[in-house]
Amino acid sequence: MSGGRLIILGFATAALALLGWGCTSWAHEGLEVATLPSEVQPDYALFARRCSKCHSLARPLTSGIDDDAYWLSYVTRMRRQPASGISEEDAVVILRFLHYFSVEERRKSGKLPAPPAAPPPPAPLASPLPVAPPAAGTPGDAPQDHGQRGP
Ligand code: HEC
Repeated sequence: MSGGRLIILGFATAALALLGWGCTSWAHEGLEVATLPSEVQPDYALFARRCSKCHSLARPLTSGIDDDAYWLSYVTRMRRQPASGISEEDAVVILRFLHYFSVEERRKSGKLPAPPAAPPPPAPLASPLPVAPPAAGTPGDAPQDHGQRGP
């Protein structure tokens, strides 16, 4: 009786193992890219490429630095290392990521009391957008609930 269930369990385990295997190469020393907001992901990608050249990404990510001014001085220092491969333009992008990272760190450690206010909703448009037509292809216009009410 339990044979079929065992096989299913086997498949599930294999699937999970495959999923996990797919992720580890990226995530094990850096951040889980998929958890970052999509606008931060390209900045993170550059940070991950440039700042993992000489040491692991854990170096900056676990340094405990959560202050823009410190990051500026660190990134400047790293950039001036011989053959760092970090251009001034790269530094701008990297610092943008590190700013995001610092804010997250401060929030996690409770230094920021509340998440920043959500951006205000866009002002209502002067003329409303055209409303999508009601479900197309309804045969006829007969009201659906006509007559068929009650037991
Ligand atoms: C050219 C090689 C190189 C590159 C590229 C590089 N680093 Fe470093 N990094 C170093 C060296 C060398 C040290 C010093 C190691 C030490 O002092 O033990 C270091 C140390 C650090 C430290 C630890 C400092 C401390 O006091 O513990 C941080 C944080 C850091 N790097 C961040 C970064 C960041 C962020 C980037 C990308 C902008 C980066 N690194 C890119 C070479 C590099």
